[in-house]
Amino acid sequence: MARRPQALAAITDPGTRELVSLAFDACLKAYAPSSKFHVGAAVRTAKGLYVGCNVENGSYGLTSCAERNAVFTAVGVEGGKIEIEAVAVYARSPGRKVKTASPCGACRQVLAEFGRDAVVTFLEDGKFCSMTVDELLPEAFELY
Ligand code: THU
Repeated sequence: MARRPQALAAITDPGTRELVSLAFDACLKAYAPSSKFHVGAAVRTAKGLYVGCNVENGSYGLTSCAERNAVFTAVGVEGGKIEIEAVAVYARSPGRKVKTASPCGACRQVLAEFGRDAVVTFLEDGKFCSMTVDELLPEAFELY
């Protein structure tokens, strides 16, 4: 069984610690035969907690990121314009030490649609750091 990240203990806010812990659990479910980079994400809204992992595909381009899978699950459950309060991302790669795993540009854009003020917690140089979606993607595209 995979060991929980040591850096988890350093997170003082219990809500954030729970979210990162869920992201860790989710990354263990990843289907990543190509990259071997297993990503988990957890999303919190006022109504619930949702998780997702990355799912790769033999045709490469169809790969779906953990963050987007978590967000799309939340939309599927709550319906419509959900409001994301917080997000956590965690990644591991068997046999390697993953030090940094921040949301990719496409996922930042998707997160921005549902919560520019949402706080995103992710690994940065071996430690967890938190930034708002707006800080991660200033001037995000907005339709109308
Ligand atoms: N990946 C994510 O799940 N989230 C990100 O924000 C960046 C990348 C996945 C996609 C692919 O399965 C693997 O990580 C390597 O890029």
